[in-house]
Amino acid sequence: MKAFIVDRYRKKEPLRYGDMPEPVPGQDDVLVEIHAAGLNPLDSKIRDGAFKAFIRYRPPFILGHDVAGIVVGIGSNVRRFKLGDEVYARPRDGRIGTFAERIAIDQADVALKPRTIGMEEAASIPLVGLTAWQALVERAGLEKGQKVLIHAGSGGVGTVAIQLAKHLGATVATTTSTANMDLVKRLGADIVIDYRDQEFDKILSGYDVVLNSLDGATLRKSLEVIRPGGRLISISGPPDPDFAREQGLNWLLRQVVRLLSLGIRRRATARGVRYSFLFMQANGNQLGQITALIDKGVIRPVVDRIFPFDATNDALAFVETGRVKGKVVVKLR
Ligand SMILES: NC(=O)c1ccc[n+]([C@@H]2O[C@H](COP(=O)([O-])OP(=O)(O)OC[C@H]3O[C@@H](n4cnc5c(N)ncnc54)[C@H](OP(=O)(O)O)[C@@H]3O)[C@@H](O)[C@H]2O)c1
Repeated sequence: MKAFIVDRYRKKEPLRYGDMPEPVPGQDDVLVEIHAAGLNPLDSKIRDGAFKAFIRYRPPFILGHDVAGIVVGIGSNVRRFKLGDEVYARPRDGRIGTFAERIAIDQADVALKPRTIGMEEAASIPLVGLTAWQALVERAGLEKGQKVLIHAGSGGVGTVAIQLAKHLGATVATTTSTANMDLVKRLGADIVIDYRDQEFDKILSGYDVVLNSLDGATLRKSLEVIRPGGRLISISGPPDPDFAREQGLNWLLRQVVRLLSLGIRRRATARGVRYSFLFMQANGNQLGQITALIDKGVIRPVVDRIFPFDATNDALAFVETGRVKGKVVVKLR
């Protein structure tokens, strides 16, 4: 089958369009005919080799973490899905590869696609939807009446996180640039800070939760706006010892990770704030709950651009500009 392939870890190296073997579904897998695939900054980071210490794929491998499509094959243990189901997924680490015509995915990672949206919109959701869910629902336990700051509200994670936080009943502040102010307000943001001429840490205070997806300076400033007992959750690093443990890293890497986050953990502790790094996980059950929210109209996907499959490298280059509003998707069928 045709696929976009990483032949070697290298910064900015274009993916090779070529042939790869047909995936063979295992007992617990569904075989999905891919109609659309979503792109993420994680794709570039994996290709660049930035995650080699944590997740190692042996080249040549197919890139891509988000998929929407139709079930065309099932393993003998599969009970949750049948042939012809429209599904979407963020396949688990170690089994990615959605920039292709087909993929075999563990049924535990898959959910029925929302009925009310198309394949391209569906493919934009899994990774960022699960990230927002795992940060705000699972980890922060965000509640009605609480205040949350979501950085980069116009990005892939931000556009879903704002809508989810509003649904949970929180007051939402977000950072974005002038051009995206209307977008984040439409998504429900109560307080919008233009990061180009305003300093969020001078404006906000007493926040229960901050979701950080930006740089170290933003992370440190975020501490200033959180009340004692609040939480600082970062998806852009630095990784923390819990993450190292969950990933089963060796002793040396665990020490490296401990040192990487020592500074922010110390600063957080001094202010009575809990710092944690989140690395999202594939989860079909949670994705199913996101499906329900989409079909109720609570969460609306924001898709900036749809590229044809053969322009996957252009789509990835667009993601790498860092200026995407919502998500970028490639369409196969
Ligand atoms: N750990 C995890 O599990 C996990 C999961 C998902 C994502 N991530 C990471 O989180 C980061 C964000 O991911 P994403 O998919 O949301 O990225 P994205 O969609 O590529 O982010 C682009 C958006 O970021 C905004 N932005 C850029 N600089 C900003 C700043 N200084 N302040 C406020 N907004 C800014 C841009 O808005 P303007 O054009 O207005 O600047 C743009 O809309 C990436 O590093 C990604 O790898 C981690």
